[in-house]
Amino acid sequence: MKQNGLKQNGLFEMKQNGLKQNDLFGLKVKKKIAMLTCYDFQTAKLLEQAGIDLILVGDSLGMVVLGFNDTKSVTMADMIRHTAAVARAVEKTPIIGDMPAGSYNSAEDALKNAKLLLEAGANAVKFEGCRPEIVSVLVKEKISVMAHIGLLPQTAEKYCVQGYEKDDAKKIFEDAMILDKLGVFAIVLECIPLSLAKKITENTNALTIGIGAGLHCNGQVLVINDLLGLNQKFKPKFVKQYTNLSEKITTAVSNFKEEVLNGKFPLDKESFH
Ligand code: KIV
Repeated sequence: MKQNGLKQNGLFEMKQNGLKQNDLFGLKVKKKIAMLTCYDFQTAKLLEQAGIDLILVGDSLGMVVLGFNDTKSVTMADMIRHTAAVARAVEKTPIIGDMPAGSYNSAEDALKNAKLLLEAGANAVKFEGCRPEIVSVLVKEKISVMAHIGLLPQTAEKYCVQGYEKDDAKKIFEDAMILDKLGVFAIVLECIPLSLAKKITENTNALTIGIGAGLHCNGQVLVINDLLGLNQKFKPKFVKQYTNLSEKITTAVSNFKEEVLNGKFPLDKESFH
């Protein structure tokens, strides 16, 4: 791993000033990063309470909140609304705003829309793919950028592991090197073999945050609905379900229904006199 004697600050101090690759390098050496997606006020409060390192207002919103089949229909208006909801909840946890499909077709669009996400309360932005022309413009404007390579849901025709073929692995590695050199503070590695993720992690200053990229990454991200077991249909290999909220919610709702039908709710203690 490259060592360059950079500052070893924690994440929280950087929320105000933006997340910079140089400042975060210490974390790459010292500790793992836990990031989760989040889309609403109350959940964001709980994530901060639990001490999560980074919150991603991801465009997975399209599927888990808005009920689309993929992320392609998510708009800037959606992302601004949900980023602002999360931002109202958290005080110290850095927020990454995901740029939706179509919001960064040109560097000009990317800059305009990244600024809108920052105004809504994001401390950094993320977008998919290796787009040096966009990263350069954003970094020059002192906007903190999280890159995202490997499986790219906004353009993928099929969701599958990327980088098994030698040429694909080479391209992913080279893209990571380009993005790192341009100064992104972190790179999401989605669905790539763990050996490739390890090689990227060992050769970048940027933090690598894996989802389906194995244990060698500097950090991990999951979609919160998957971790909480809210999603009954989608259970990919890389997801670990930490609880089963869909079962708990269904039970609570049917208990409520039963008590209403049987006159057990509301009781005197839940009534006004
Ligand atoms: O939108 C999202 O949830 C993401 C994560 C899968 C990294 O981009």
